[in-house]
This record gives sequence, structure tokens and C-alpha cells, in this order.
Amino acid sequence: MTKNLVVIGSQWGDEGKGKIVDLLTERAAAVVRFQGGHNAGHTLVVEGKTTILHLIPSGILHSNVMSYIANGVVLHLPSLFSEAEELMAAGVSVWEKLRVSNACALIMPSHIALDKAREAAKGAGKIGTTCRGIGPCYEDKIARRGLRLADLQNADNFRTRAEELLNYHNFLLKNFYQAETVDVAATIDEWLSFAPKIAPIICDTTLALEEHRKRGENILYEGAQGAMLDIDHGTYPFVTSSSTASGGAATGTGTGIHKLDFVLAITKAYTTRVGSGPFPTELNNDIGEHLGRVGREIGASTGRKRRTGWIDLPALRRAALNSCFDGICITKLDVLDELATIKICTNYRLDGKIIDIAPLGADELSRCEAIYEEIDGWQSSTIGIREYEKLPEKARQYLEKLEKILEIPIVIISTGPDREETIERKVLLS
Ligand code: GDP
Ligand code: IMO
Ligand code: MG
Repeated sequence: MTKNLVVIGSQWGDEGKGKIVDLLTERAAAVVRFQGGHNAGHTLVVEGKTTILHLIPSGILHSNVMSYIANGVVLHLPSLFSEAEELMAAGVSVWEKLRVSNACALIMPSHIALDKAREAAKGAGKIGTTCRGIGPCYEDKIARRGLRLADLQNADNFRTRAEELLNYHNFLLKNFYQAETVDVAATIDEWLSFAPKIAPIICDTTLALEEHRKRGENILYEGAQGAMLDIDHGTYPFVTSSSTASGGAATGTGTGIHKLDFVLAITKAYTTRVGSGPFPTELNNDIGEHLGRVGREIGASTGRKRRTGWIDLPALRRAALNSCFDGICITKLDVLDELATIKICTNYRLDGKIIDIAPLGADELSRCEAIYEEIDGWQSSTIGIREYEKLPEKARQYLEKLEKILEIPIVIISTGPDREETIERKVLLS
């Protein structure tokens, strides 16, 4: 029985995690974000109405479901407030249903300034970050000099610690990057002014989740980014700074690994990537343009054009190994509808050898050449189909081929952006 379901992206992000989390929240009592920050952009479409979430978990549109931002998330308070206000303006009750961990690391304006300065200094070799301060904030957390939400509860303590940190950031900004510094006193005052607003929703999210578990309720763990952007297992250094693999759900929430029952890997029927880094199946041609246009591959956070390519099974095998996928959800199948031929990258050629799993890190991956199997496209519409048997035969063959090669069942298929445009072959969290 699945009660604790981890939903992660299996590629380089933007696989459609938000849509699927929103759909599955129907059967959950709680949804928890466990890593990343407002670098995420998760899109929900309900009855034609679009909502884009960055920090707030994708279950927020459902009444009577609690949303948690757990310890592993890096928190930019102004972004949280503006996102909450936007939702409230649309009639969603947020403060009643949202709880934030007192252990969340705080993203300060100087983290954002450092992120931008580092990217600018790298020039052509830049990572292509979202410039949201994610990397610098995680750096400070690991270096044990970062600020946490709990620190805001003691103004004197916060002032001392924040001053030390911001002075250090300003030293780097001024002397190393020749960039603008931040106003230390004004920043500290501003952050202290946030304290009373956030105080009512701060809690020990690990204990809150355990209470749900004790009541026998279902919990959804919502990943951000994708497995190939994992700090340890992705295409380093072209990665994000958190653990995006399924293990991040345990460490980021303080949940024992044995309590997580099922890992659902959200996988686009093709591949996209935003920012720099190797991408063996990338299509810099008309087909790539077609996928970008039909799939509307524009970043939900930064508005950047996403790079597009064929589905990449060696990369998925690496992700499956790291995250132990129990089931796959294929999204955006409809985007392939018009194509006469579809390619599946089954292997890579690396230094004259055929390999079936992506090598670690960016250097070797950038030398990999994709080897493809070609199949006929179905060239008819799958948009909005809700029953597996109603899919065109060739679309089913495509899915069954992926299942067979990866040896992982495809349990959900998404045929459009709307919550309803989904085929559930296995009902999870029932
Ligand atoms: P996330 O970051 O993984 O939540 O994904 P994003 O929201 O950044 O990007 C996914 C995009 O694809 C969004 O615009 C979704 O509305 C859209 N989408 C999700 N599933 C489908 C699908 O099955 N078909 C189509 N055409 N669009 C989809
Ligand atoms: P969701 O949750 C796609 C990418 C950035 C960059 C790299 C590092 O919507 O799938 P960062 O700002 O995290 O330091 O940037 O990671 N990236 C994402 N790409 N989807 C995301 O989130 C991403 N979040 C970060 O483009 O290449
Ligand atoms: Mg996204």
C-alpha cells in the first residue's frame, strides 16, 4: 500500500511535476517540498486556469490538504509572501494550510547578488542558473554560517549573525567580483520585519508529517528540478545545489528512508534542459523547434527558452539507479503527435565504446554521442485522451517500448496540461 509517495523529476527539470502532484493531491492529506527553492516553476492547469508555483507545494489548490515547506528547502521570504498573496488574491486560502520548517535556510539578497556576480564572472562558461541565490545559500548552509528561519525569532541573535554573514558577502562582492554590495542594516531590518508575519506558520515539519503518518494519512513528497540536476549525481558542475534524487525526500524532510513507499519519476516523452551543460540528444533543428513550439517550452520561472531533444534512456537509467523508480509517469505525449518518426536514444558511444548508462559529471557526458532507435510516429491527436486503450496503437507501442527497455512500469500518462488530461493505469495513494 502506498501512503508516502515521492514525486521527482527524472530528467533536467520541467517534466510536469506540478501537474501530477496537483492531480494526486486529491488523495493526500499533506504535500511537502523537500529541496530547492524558488528556482522551481511548477505549473498547474485546472479547468483551463493556470497557476505557477515556485515555493508553495503544488497541492495548495485543494482545500483540507496541508502544505509543508521542509528543512531542505532554501527560503526567500519576499518570494514566499508574494506567491502567497497572488494565490490569496485568486481566492486560495494559504496561511491556514501552509507550514514552514524552522530549519529552512534563508536566501538573503546578497546570495542573489553573489549568484549573479558568479555567473557574470564565468562569462561563456556560466551554469545558466536561475540567479535566485540558490547555490550561494546552500554553500553557506553547508559551511555552517547560513541563517535559518528559526534565527529570525531572536532579533539580537539574528542581527549579530546576519551582520557577520552579510559583511562577508559584501567583502566578496566588492573585492572579488567588483560588484555592488548590499545595504547590511536595511536588509537586516527588512528581514526582521518579516518575523511576525511568518511566525504563525513556522513549525517542526518533521513532527507534523509524523502526525499525518500516525493518523494513517497519505503524504506526497514533491521534488523540484530533476534527477540529472542533482548535486552529487547529475551533470556536475551544470547542476543545481540540492539533492534532487529521491533520497532528498528523506534527508530534506527528516523522514526515515523506509517510510517512503513509492518513487514516481515524472518523465517527459522527450527531453528539455534550461541553462548550460551537456545534452547528448539535443536537437538544434526543425524538430527541436517543433517540440519547443508545440510543447510551449518556455521556462516557468525565468521565461528562458528551453533546449529540446529526444528521450534519453542512458540518462534515465542513471536517474533510475540513483532514485530507484517504482513507476514512471510519461508527460507531454501529445507533443509528439504530429511527428512522422520518433527517436529513442538507447545508448551512447563514448570514446569508441557503446555504453548504456550516462557517465557521471559533465566532462564525459559532453563526449557522448547518442545512438538511436527509430520508430514510426502515430500522427494523430492524443490530446486529452483519458483511457490507455484509446491511445493510437503506435503511441502505445512507443510507451511499451520505453517500459520494456527501462524495465519500469509506466503508471501514469499525461496527454495535456490540464489536471483532467491524464491516464492513470495504476491508481496511486488509493
Ligand atoms: P515542472 O517544473 O516539472 O512542474 O514542469 P513545468 O510546469 O515547469 O513545465 C511543464 C509544462 O508542460 C507546463 O507548462 C505544463 O502546463 C505543461 N504540461 C504538463 N503536462 C503536459 C502534457 O501532458 N501535455 C502538454 N501539452 N503540456 C503539459
Ligand atoms: P523545476 O522544479 C529546470 C536549472 C537552471 C540551471 C541549473 C542551476 O521547475 O523543474 P540554480 O538556479 O538552481 O542554481 O540553477 O539548474 N534549474 C532548473 N531547470 N527546472 C527547474 O525547476 C530548475 N531549477 C533550476 O536552469 O541550469
Ligand atoms: Mg518547472
